[in-house]
Amino acid sequence: MSRVVVTGRVPEAALEKLRTEHEVEAWAGPESIGREELLRRVAGADAVVSLLTERIDAELLDAAGPQLKVVANVAVGYDNIDVPACTERGIVATNTPGVLTEATADIALGLILSATRRLGEGERLIRSGQPWKWGMFFLLGSSLQGKTLGIVGMGGIGQATARRAKAFGMEIVYQSRSEIDLAIAAELGTRRVELEELLAISDIVSLHCPYGPATHHLIGAEQLSAMKHSAYLINTARGPIIDETALASALREGQIAGAGLDVFENEPNVHPGLLELENVVLVPHLGSATVETRTAMALLAADNTLAVLSDERPPAPIN
Ligand code: DGY
Repeated sequence: MSRVVVTGRVPEAALEKLRTEHEVEAWAGPESIGREELLRRVAGADAVVSLLTERIDAELLDAAGPQLKVVANVAVGYDNIDVPACTERGIVATNTPGVLTEATADIALGLILSATRRLGEGERLIRSGQPWKWGMFFLLGSSLQGKTLGIVGMGGIGQATARRAKAFGMEIVYQSRSEIDLAIAAELGTRRVELEELLAISDIVSLHCPYGPATHHLIGAEQLSAMKHSAYLINTARGPIIDETALASALREGQIAGAGLDVFENEPNVHPGLLELENVVLVPHLGSATVETRTAMALLAADNTLAVLSDERPPAPIN
Protein backbone atom coordinates (compact mmCIF):
# COMPACT_ATOMS: atom_id res chain seq x y z
CA MET A 1 0.00 0.00 0.00
CA SER A 2 1.34 3.41 -0.97
CA ARG A 3 0.66 6.76 0.63
CA VAL A 4 -1.22 9.25 -1.56
CA VAL A 5 -1.48 12.90 -0.50
CA VAL A 6 -4.26 14.93 -2.13
CA THR A 7 -3.54 18.65 -1.79
CA GLY A 8 -7.13 19.93 -1.86
CA ARG A 9 -10.79 18.96 -2.04
CA VAL A 10 -11.66 16.70 -4.99
CA PRO A 11 -14.85 14.75 -5.83
CA GLU A 12 -15.38 11.80 -3.50
CA ALA A 13 -15.49 9.28 -6.39
CA ALA A 14 -11.80 9.86 -7.04
CA LEU A 15 -10.88 9.47 -3.37
CA GLU A 16 -12.85 6.21 -3.21
CA LYS A 17 -11.03 4.92 -6.25
CA LEU A 18 -7.65 5.72 -4.72
CA ARG A 19 -8.65 4.26 -1.34
CA THR A 20 -9.40 0.85 -2.87
CA GLU A 21 -5.66 0.35 -3.26
CA HIS A 22 -3.84 2.93 -1.15
CA GLU A 23 -3.77 4.97 2.02
CA VAL A 24 -5.13 8.41 1.10
CA GLU A 25 -4.64 11.62 3.02
CA ALA A 26 -6.74 14.41 1.48
CA TRP A 27 -6.76 18.04 2.57
CA ALA A 28 -10.40 18.83 3.34
CA GLY A 29 -10.18 22.40 4.58
CA PRO A 30 -12.44 25.04 2.97
CA GLU A 31 -9.37 27.18 2.14
CA SER A 32 -6.37 26.07 0.08
CA ILE A 33 -3.78 24.17 2.05
CA GLY A 34 -1.03 26.54 3.25
CA ARG A 35 2.50 26.04 1.98
CA GLU A 36 3.92 25.00 5.40
CA GLU A 37 1.18 22.45 5.94
CA LEU A 38 1.61 21.13 2.41
CA LEU A 39 5.36 20.67 2.82
CA ARG A 40 4.75 18.88 6.11
CA ARG A 41 2.05 16.58 4.69
CA VAL A 42 3.88 15.48 1.56
CA ALA A 43 6.82 14.12 3.56
CA GLY A 44 6.98 10.38 2.87
CA ALA A 45 4.26 10.43 0.16
CA ASP A 46 4.51 8.06 -2.80
CA ALA A 47 2.03 10.10 -4.82
CA VAL A 48 0.82 13.69 -4.73
CA VAL A 49 -2.50 14.54 -6.36
CA SER A 50 -2.23 18.30 -6.85
CA LEU A 51 -4.56 21.17 -7.69
CA LEU A 52 -3.47 24.13 -9.81
CA THR A 53 -3.49 26.36 -6.72
CA GLU A 54 -0.45 24.47 -5.32
CA ARG A 55 3.09 25.11 -6.53
CA ILE A 56 4.86 21.80 -7.11
CA ASP A 57 8.51 22.80 -7.22
CA ALA A 58 11.91 21.37 -6.28
CA GLU A 59 11.43 22.37 -2.63
CA LEU A 60 8.20 20.39 -2.41
CA LEU A 61 9.58 17.37 -4.27
CA ASP A 62 12.54 17.28 -1.89
CA ALA A 63 10.26 17.71 1.12
CA ALA A 64 8.32 14.66 -0.13
CA GLY A 65 11.44 12.53 -0.37
CA PRO A 66 13.07 10.13 -2.85
CA GLN A 67 10.18 7.59 -2.69
CA LEU A 68 7.82 10.04 -4.48
CA LYS A 69 6.80 8.44 -7.80
CA VAL A 70 4.05 10.60 -9.24
CA VAL A 71 2.57 14.09 -9.21
CA ALA A 72 -0.92 13.93 -10.69
CA ASN A 73 -2.30 17.38 -11.45
CA VAL A 74 -6.09 17.69 -11.49
CA ALA A 75 -5.94 20.11 -14.44
CA VAL A 76 -4.92 20.11 -18.06
CA GLY A 77 -2.64 23.12 -17.52
CA TYR A 78 0.46 22.35 -15.48
CA ASP A 79 2.27 25.65 -15.17
CA ASN A 80 2.08 25.11 -11.38
CA ILE A 81 4.45 22.13 -11.73
CA ASP A 82 8.19 22.32 -12.27
CA VAL A 83 8.24 19.47 -14.77
CA PRO A 84 12.04 19.43 -15.31
CA ALA A 85 12.47 19.15 -11.53
CA CYS A 86 10.14 16.11 -11.56
CA THR A 87 12.00 14.55 -14.48
CA GLU A 88 15.41 15.07 -12.83
CA ARG A 89 14.14 13.15 -9.80
CA GLY A 90 12.52 10.36 -11.86
CA ILE A 91 9.04 11.49 -10.83
CA VAL A 92 6.22 11.08 -13.35
CA ALA A 93 4.02 14.17 -13.78
CA THR A 94 0.53 13.77 -15.25
CA ASN A 95 -2.41 16.01 -16.18
CA THR A 96 -6.05 15.69 -17.28
CA PRO A 97 -6.39 16.51 -20.98
CA GLY A 98 -9.56 15.86 -22.96
CA VAL A 99 -12.10 15.63 -20.16
CA LEU A 100 -12.47 19.40 -19.74
CA THR A 101 -12.39 20.34 -23.41
CA GLU A 102 -16.12 20.83 -23.93
CA ALA A 103 -16.78 22.60 -20.62
CA THR A 104 -13.96 25.06 -21.26
CA ALA A 105 -15.14 25.72 -24.82
CA ASP A 106 -18.61 26.40 -23.38
CA ILE A 107 -17.15 29.10 -21.13
CA ALA A 108 -15.22 30.60 -24.04
CA LEU A 109 -18.48 30.86 -25.99
CA GLY A 110 -20.22 32.21 -22.89
CA LEU A 111 -17.60 34.95 -22.62
CA ILE A 112 -17.81 35.73 -26.34
CA LEU A 113 -21.59 36.16 -26.05
CA SER A 114 -21.40 38.06 -22.75
CA ALA A 115 -18.78 40.48 -24.06
CA THR A 116 -20.27 41.10 -27.50
CA ARG A 117 -23.87 41.34 -26.27
CA ARG A 118 -23.03 43.31 -23.10
CA LEU A 119 -24.73 40.85 -20.75
CA GLY A 120 -22.65 41.87 -17.75
CA GLU A 121 -23.48 45.53 -18.23
CA GLY A 122 -27.18 44.72 -18.57
CA GLU A 123 -27.15 42.57 -15.44
CA ARG A 124 -25.37 45.23 -13.41
CA LEU A 125 -27.79 47.89 -14.64
CA ILE A 126 -30.87 45.96 -13.55
CA ARG A 127 -29.40 45.00 -10.19
CA SER A 128 -28.37 48.58 -9.51
CA GLY A 129 -32.06 49.53 -9.58
CA GLN A 130 -31.53 52.23 -12.23
CA PRO A 131 -34.55 52.95 -14.45
CA TRP A 132 -34.37 51.46 -17.94
CA LYS A 133 -36.62 50.70 -20.87
CA TRP A 134 -36.31 49.13 -24.32
CA GLY A 135 -34.71 51.60 -26.71
CA MET A 136 -33.57 51.47 -30.32
CA PHE A 137 -30.01 52.29 -29.31
CA PHE A 138 -30.03 50.84 -25.79
CA LEU A 139 -26.99 48.64 -24.92
CA LEU A 140 -26.28 47.70 -28.52
CA GLY A 141 -23.72 44.98 -28.98
CA SER A 142 -22.14 43.31 -31.92
CA SER A 143 -23.46 40.26 -33.89
CA LEU A 144 -21.44 37.08 -34.33
CA GLN A 145 -22.90 36.00 -37.69
CA GLY A 146 -20.33 36.49 -40.44
CA LYS A 147 -17.60 37.71 -38.07
CA THR A 148 -14.13 36.22 -37.82
CA LEU A 149 -12.94 34.35 -34.76
CA GLY A 150 -9.16 34.10 -34.39
CA ILE A 151 -8.11 31.16 -32.24
CA VAL A 152 -4.65 31.24 -30.71
CA GLY A 153 -3.70 27.65 -29.86
CA MET A 154 -5.71 25.13 -31.87
CA GLY A 155 -5.55 22.09 -29.57
CA GLY A 156 -8.66 20.29 -28.36
CA ILE A 157 -10.18 23.31 -26.56
CA GLY A 158 -9.43 25.66 -29.45
CA GLN A 159 -11.08 23.23 -31.87
CA ALA A 160 -14.12 22.74 -29.63
CA THR A 161 -14.50 26.54 -29.41
CA ALA A 162 -14.18 26.81 -33.20
CA ARG A 163 -16.90 24.17 -33.65
CA ARG A 164 -19.27 26.16 -31.46
CA ALA A 165 -18.42 29.45 -33.18
CA LYS A 166 -19.06 27.89 -36.58
CA ALA A 167 -22.57 27.03 -35.42
CA PHE A 168 -23.01 30.76 -34.72
CA GLY A 169 -22.11 31.54 -38.33
CA MET A 170 -18.55 32.70 -37.68
CA GLU A 171 -15.50 32.33 -39.91
CA ILE A 172 -12.52 30.78 -38.15
CA VAL A 173 -8.78 31.38 -38.52
CA TYR A 174 -6.18 29.99 -36.17
CA GLN A 175 -2.57 30.30 -35.11
CA SER A 176 -0.84 27.26 -33.71
CA ARG A 177 2.61 25.69 -33.53
CA SER A 178 1.52 23.09 -36.09
CA GLU A 179 -1.20 22.58 -38.69
CA ILE A 180 -4.27 20.76 -37.44
CA ASP A 181 -5.58 17.61 -39.13
CA LEU A 182 -6.68 18.52 -42.65
CA ALA A 183 -10.08 16.84 -42.29
CA ILE A 184 -10.79 18.88 -39.14
CA ALA A 185 -9.60 22.07 -40.83
CA ALA A 186 -11.96 21.35 -43.73
CA GLU A 187 -14.88 20.60 -41.39
CA LEU A 188 -14.31 23.90 -39.59
CA GLY A 189 -13.53 25.77 -42.80
CA THR A 190 -10.47 27.18 -41.10
CA ARG A 191 -6.93 28.08 -42.12
CA ARG A 192 -3.71 28.64 -40.21
CA VAL A 193 -2.29 32.19 -40.19
CA GLU A 194 0.52 34.01 -38.38
CA LEU A 195 -0.39 35.76 -35.14
CA GLU A 196 0.11 39.16 -36.79
CA GLU A 197 -2.49 38.42 -39.46
CA LEU A 198 -4.86 36.81 -36.97
CA LEU A 199 -4.81 39.92 -34.77
CA ALA A 200 -5.38 42.20 -37.74
CA ILE A 201 -8.35 40.36 -39.27
CA SER A 202 -10.21 38.89 -36.29
CA ASP A 203 -13.33 40.39 -34.76
CA ILE A 204 -12.82 38.18 -31.73
CA VAL A 205 -9.50 36.73 -30.58
CA SER A 206 -9.77 33.74 -28.24
CA LEU A 207 -6.72 32.36 -26.42
CA HIS A 208 -6.32 28.59 -26.02
CA CYS A 209 -2.56 28.08 -25.92
CA PRO A 210 -0.67 26.66 -22.93
CA TYR A 211 1.16 29.08 -20.65
CA GLY A 212 4.95 28.99 -20.38
CA PRO A 213 7.96 31.24 -21.04
CA ALA A 214 7.12 31.28 -24.77
CA THR A 215 3.59 32.59 -24.20
CA HIS A 216 4.24 34.95 -21.25
CA HIS A 217 2.58 38.27 -22.22
CA LEU A 218 2.02 36.96 -25.75
CA ILE A 219 -0.67 39.62 -25.92
CA GLY A 220 0.74 42.97 -24.83
CA ALA A 221 0.43 46.60 -25.92
CA GLU A 222 1.85 45.95 -29.39
CA GLN A 223 -0.51 43.04 -30.13
CA LEU A 224 -3.52 44.91 -28.73
CA SER A 225 -2.76 47.87 -30.97
CA ALA A 226 -2.66 45.48 -33.95
CA MET A 227 -6.28 44.44 -33.27
CA LYS A 228 -9.34 46.16 -34.74
CA HIS A 229 -10.91 48.89 -32.60
CA SER A 230 -14.14 46.87 -32.81
CA ALA A 231 -12.50 43.59 -31.69
CA TYR A 232 -12.87 41.57 -28.49
CA LEU A 233 -10.27 39.52 -26.62
CA ILE A 234 -11.26 36.31 -24.79
CA ASN A 235 -9.02 34.36 -22.39
CA THR A 236 -9.91 30.97 -20.90
CA ALA A 237 -6.31 29.66 -20.97
CA ARG A 238 -3.98 31.25 -18.40
CA GLY A 239 -3.89 34.83 -17.13
CA PRO A 240 -0.22 35.70 -17.72
CA ILE A 241 -0.60 35.12 -21.47
CA ILE A 242 -2.01 38.67 -21.43
CA ASP A 243 -0.24 41.73 -20.06
CA GLU A 244 -3.18 42.91 -17.95
CA THR A 245 -1.85 46.44 -17.51
CA ALA A 246 -1.70 46.81 -21.29
CA LEU A 247 -5.16 45.27 -21.65
CA ALA A 248 -6.69 47.63 -19.08
CA SER A 249 -5.36 50.67 -20.98
CA ALA A 250 -6.42 49.26 -24.37
CA LEU A 251 -9.96 48.76 -23.06
CA ARG A 252 -10.06 52.15 -21.33
CA GLU A 253 -8.80 53.99 -24.39
CA GLY A 254 -11.05 52.14 -26.87
CA GLN A 255 -8.13 50.48 -28.62
CA ILE A 256 -10.29 47.33 -28.61
CA ALA A 257 -14.05 47.10 -27.93
CA GLY A 258 -14.11 44.63 -25.09
CA ALA A 259 -12.81 41.49 -23.40
CA GLY A 260 -13.99 38.41 -21.58
CA LEU A 261 -11.64 36.89 -19.03
CA ASP A 262 -11.90 33.64 -17.07
CA VAL A 263 -8.27 33.69 -15.93
CA PHE A 264 -5.99 36.36 -14.46
CA GLU A 265 -2.32 37.15 -14.11
CA ASN A 266 -2.27 36.99 -10.31
CA GLU A 267 -5.23 34.87 -9.34
CA PRO A 268 -7.28 35.35 -7.28
CA ASN A 269 -6.37 39.04 -7.61
CA VAL A 270 -7.74 40.95 -10.59
CA HIS A 271 -5.95 44.00 -11.98
CA PRO A 272 -7.68 47.05 -10.43
CA GLY A 273 -7.70 48.76 -13.83
CA LEU A 274 -9.95 46.01 -15.17
CA LEU A 275 -12.35 46.12 -12.23
CA GLU A 276 -13.42 49.66 -12.99
CA LEU A 277 -14.26 49.05 -16.67
CA GLU A 278 -17.71 48.24 -18.11
CA ASN A 279 -16.39 46.68 -21.33
CA VAL A 280 -14.80 43.61 -19.76
CA VAL A 281 -16.58 40.52 -18.48
CA LEU A 282 -14.78 38.93 -15.53
CA VAL A 283 -15.46 35.41 -14.28
CA PRO A 284 -13.48 33.52 -11.62
CA HIS A 285 -11.65 30.69 -13.48
CA LEU A 286 -14.78 28.64 -14.20
CA GLY A 287 -13.62 26.92 -17.42
CA SER A 288 -13.89 23.37 -16.11
CA ALA A 289 -16.35 24.10 -13.31
CA THR A 290 -19.16 21.63 -13.93
CA VAL A 291 -19.95 18.70 -11.65
CA GLU A 292 -19.44 16.25 -14.52
CA THR A 293 -16.15 17.74 -15.67
CA ARG A 294 -14.57 18.11 -12.25
CA THR A 295 -15.53 14.51 -11.47
CA ALA A 296 -13.99 13.31 -14.75
CA MET A 297 -10.82 15.33 -14.06
CA ALA A 298 -10.42 13.90 -10.56
CA LEU A 299 -11.07 10.34 -11.80
CA LEU A 300 -8.46 10.74 -14.54
CA ALA A 301 -5.96 12.05 -11.97
CA ALA A 302 -6.76 8.99 -9.83
CA ASP A 303 -6.21 6.69 -12.84
CA ASN A 304 -2.89 8.41 -13.55
CA THR A 305 -1.85 7.92 -9.93
CA LEU A 306 -2.91 4.28 -9.74
CA ALA A 307 -1.12 3.43 -12.99
CA VAL A 308 2.20 4.92 -11.90
CA LEU A 309 1.98 3.32 -8.46
CA SER A 310 1.47 -0.04 -10.24
CA ASP A 311 4.49 0.65 -12.47
CA GLU A 312 2.27 1.04 -15.52
CA ARG A 313 2.15 3.82 -18.10
CA PRO A 314 -0.40 6.44 -16.93
CA PRO A 315 -3.16 7.56 -19.34
CA ALA A 316 -1.91 11.17 -19.43
CA PRO A 317 1.80 11.58 -18.74
CA ILE A 318 3.46 15.00 -19.15
CA ASN A 319 7.12 13.95 -18.95
C1 DGY B 1 -7.08 23.45 -16.25
O1 DGY B 1 -7.40 22.26 -16.15
O2 DGY B 1 -5.94 23.79 -16.57
C2 DGY B 1 -8.12 24.46 -15.97
O3 DGY B 1 -7.61 25.74 -15.95
C3 DGY B 1 -8.83 24.13 -14.68
O4 DGY B 1 -10.04 24.75 -14.71
